[in-house]
Amino acid sequence: MDIVASKTALGEVLRRWRTDGCSIAFVPTMGNLHDGHLRLVEEAKRLADRVVASIFVNPAQFSPGEDFGAYPRTPAEDAEKLRAAGTHLLFLPETGEIYPDRPEAMAFVEVPGLSDDLCGRFRPGHFRGVATIVCKLFNMVRPDVALFGEKDYQQLLVIRRMVADLDMPVRIHPVATVREPSGLALSSRNGYLTAEEKSLAAELFESLSAAAGRLRGGDRNFAEIERQQWAVLEAAGLRPDYFSIRRQADLALPQADDKHLVILAAARLGKTRLIDNLKVSVD
Ligand code: PAF
Repeated sequence: MDIVASKTALGEVLRRWRTDGCSIAFVPTMGNLHDGHLRLVEEAKRLADRVVASIFVNPAQFSPGEDFGAYPRTPAEDAEKLRAAGTHLLFLPETGEIYPDRPEAMAFVEVPGLSDDLCGRFRPGHFRGVATIVCKLFNMVRPDVALFGEKDYQQLLVIRRMVADLDMPVRIHPVATVREPSGLALSSRNGYLTAEEKSLAAELFESLSAAAGRLRGGDRNFAEIERQQWAVLEAAGLRPDYFSIRRQADLALPQADDKHLVILAAARLGKTRLIDNLKVSVD
């Protein structure tokens, strides 16, 4: 696996591959890689001739007071994991390579509506930062396909919407969430959890599963299901930001006859903010 830090070096490798007729799959990450990321690489290898991964902790998607400074940075371990997983090229830029000026002074991409709801209500500017960096990385890598985990379901929809609205020539390929045996979704931020918090954190998946069970059983009292699971989370010691049943396609509030739903939740536990979701399709 080659590692490049500059856009120029990245462009040179990519030009060679394209001349050779290779298709390119792209896995953008912020590093501190876990099995969820490696699943993206596995899937990427199936979809294209060459796999490019990036590691960049994007300051523009952190709000003031969030964990940008503390976000775990483990580039040597990450590079080794990517190499072992069969990645062909790692793009590992410094901040100045991506944002030669202050991010807030530079052009940005905004996906209105979708970005303002759910996590967007609690993390103002977050999805603008995500859309902007993903657009920039797409322009640098120009992949045929890019892979994103369904754990960040709202992010996935924001990116899909950006790609559709701006006619970006890239296919977005979602990959199912990877979980611990307890159900806890893998996340780089799980490293912030103490051992005790980690067992409590599985409650988020439990409550999503309980809500999914009610939906599958035909219950359409969305507000009551949300209220009940909110109370369950609070009783377990989590502080929910939201627990919400939405339409899978666009995160709109569902009607009783909608068949493809997604239950999304975010909750705080100690200094960690957990997010997770479950898709439910009913006949
Ligand atoms: O999901 C992430 O790790 C980040 O939001 C992404 C897509 C790499 C953009 O910085």
